[in-house]
Amino acid sequence: MSELEKKDLTVLAIESSCDETACAIVKNGREVLSNIIATQIDIHKRYGGVVPEIASRNHIDAITNVVNEALEKANMKLEDIDLVSATYGPGLVGALLVGLSTAKAMAWASKKPFLGVHHIEGHIAANYITHKDLEPPYICLVVSGGHSNLVYVKDYTEFEILGRTRDDAVGEAFDKVSRVIGLEYPGGPKIDKLAKEGKPSYKLPKTFFDDSLDFSFSGIKTAVINLVHKEGIDNINIPDLCYSFEDAVTDVLLSNLLKACHMKGTNKVALAGGVSANSFLRARLDKMGEENNLKIYYPELVYCTDNAAMIGAAAYYDYMVGKKSDWNLNAIPYLKLGDKLRK
Ligand code: KG4
Ligand code: ZN
Repeated sequence: MSELEKKDLTVLAIESSCDETACAIVKNGREVLSNIIATQIDIHKRYGGVVPEIASRNHIDAITNVVNEALEKANMKLEDIDLVSATYGPGLVGALLVGLSTAKAMAWASKKPFLGVHHIEGHIAANYITHKDLEPPYICLVVSGGHSNLVYVKDYTEFEILGRTRDDAVGEAFDKVSRVIGLEYPGGPKIDKLAKEGKPSYKLPKTFFDDSLDFSFSGIKTAVINLVHKEGIDNINIPDLCYSFEDAVTDVLLSNLLKACHMKGTNKVALAGGVSANSFLRARLDKMGEENNLKIYYPELVYCTDNAAMIGAAAYYDYMVGKKSDWNLNAIPYLKLGDKLRK
């Protein structure tokens, strides 16, 4: 056993890549001692989506209180922390910089190591918090507002992308469709709720690629926009449209997911990201799991959408394989999964 593996490791993690200012204290990658999330949803709602400049300003206003509250809830002081971490990408550059600079300043001042974490790796690691038994390898379908990736998680810190969206992310499609049918931002949860009263009466396009497990959701988004313009919003059965939209999107996501399982010869599957909170997707995946003998893992709802506990979980596994970041690590808005930019 190495020196690192012998003792408990308590991580203070910060997440500020989009419209949630979050801080969490996580022990040994799986035990959440506190998890504070200040959401800006009510502020951005009136603009129909996240306004980057407003997000950055609100992160600055919220960050100190959020960090103090996380330490207080965990009954800890900065001296009790072993590692300070923060998301460094992908995300909105101004928003990322707030969390990243705060984490660096705290680590520097307290002479603790500092580690930048990949946001998507964080979403994947959210599953380790909920499922203490989950270990790689497995396939993870990462579906959020900014990303749609089909990932082979070879090991805790080794990822292979099997498919990615060529245009819109799934959550983005949910949010854009919801705007067209007059629902508030973020649209995912609202579509989820309305679809429960609907049936599949609208035929919407599904995009598959012969030679890859990539996704494309701009076609279905445009089809909904055209339908609303052609029929008129008052003549549309909104719950039916929500159902039909979820039905088509889920079909594409799960078909590719099953192909990925066959390709890698694994029956272990995890979901991650904001859209993994979707009840229709979960129900369909459960059914597919029963029919195909898959073992399925979802994060608890609070760890599906953006939070800092997932960043603390990912930071633990990165640190355990010897990763550490330099003080000059910058925010990287378009950081791709698997980019080897950390030291
Ligand atoms: O992971 P997340 O918080 O942020 C990103 O990293 O992008 O995901 C936010 C996305 C939004 O697009 C939101 O509409 C979607 O997750 N979402 C949902 C549900 N809850 C959140 N989509 C479908 N059904 C839900 N229940
Ligand atoms: Zn996210």
